[in-house]
Amino acid sequence: MSADSKKYDFLKKTNSVEEYVPPDYYNELLKPYVFSGKTDLDIFREYLENLNEAHNVLELCSGSGRVTDVAIRTLPNADLTLSDLSQRMLNYTKERFKRSNVVDYLQGDAVEIASKLDGQYDLIYTLWGFSHSVHQHVHKSGIEKTKKILRASLEKMFKNNLRQGGSFYLVHFDSMSDEQRILMRQWQRVYPAFSDISTQTPSKQMIDEILHDLDNRNVITLAEKHLVGDPIMYEDENTLLEIFLNFHLETYFNNLDCLPTVIDDIRNCIKQYKNPDGTYSIGTGCYIYEVKKR
Ligand SMILES: C[S@@+](CC[C@H](N)C(=O)[O-])C[C@H]1O[C@@H](n2cnc3c(N)ncnc32)[C@H](O)[C@@H]1O
Repeated sequence: MSADSKKYDFLKKTNSVEEYVPPDYYNELLKPYVFSGKTDLDIFREYLENLNEAHNVLELCSGSGRVTDVAIRTLPNADLTLSDLSQRMLNYTKERFKRSNVVDYLQGDAVEIASKLDGQYDLIYTLWGFSHSVHQHVHKSGIEKTKKILRASLEKMFKNNLRQGGSFYLVHFDSMSDEQRILMRQWQRVYPAFSDISTQTPSKQMIDEILHDLDNRNVITLAEKHLVGDPIMYEDENTLLEIFLNFHLETYFNNLDCLPTVIDDIRNCIKQYKNPDGTYSIGTGCYIYEVKKR
């Protein structure tokens, strides 16, 4: 056991990519993401309130149901299908929403699910999760092959599984935010796809390229917004390290030899965000893609 593991009890936790972070622990660690006074959930609620019609609805990467809860309350007459790679996340939402308008649960990889859908939806949405799927494809198959897979999957989904006038909503993290810059430095140690951290991630770049192309070809209409988040406040260094290592980095580094280097690097990076009272304030950001099928 390393000195760090003895010092930080939370480093004993580990989970696989497929399981993801346990749902209750996810809920416990997640801090509110606020953009000019509105959370990501407030912004999504307002988006839903302005939709004309959304009866058949699909959520990709639904996680513990944080966003689903907003959809259920805002669209009480819709039929919702939830999807996630993690079976334990789906089990959790099945229990959480057993008396609701959630009608189906699909376990699997989001990009693959999008390529195999057979229903037609009025709305498909995904917040903070789709990049996980894209990057898993990148790590397995490389950038060029993933681009083809993603393009085919999204194009097929828009053409066959979104009704005319239907909507697609995607929230993607901004890897140039203070928070993500610290995290990208760590992912870069283990994933060659993140070798250039001076720019947006492969996932963001591919989604941009494909959606802009579909827009130019009149398949969709695309609006993309960049939101700069209010800095997130961490009570102290230990709290921050637990959230960074076990939530953002998904415990990936907890058993690796480079763990002490990762911890030292995060400690070093966060010095500039330390407040006089010992708390830390670290900036966030995201991109919101709002798509309409033509
Ligand atoms: C950061 S959480 C976001 C959850 C939820 N959308 C929210 O905003 O609270 C990422 C989610 O993506 C899921 N995930 C990871 N890889 C995935 C993949 N390849 N396909 C689908 N979901 C995936 C995880 O299990 C997790 O539930």
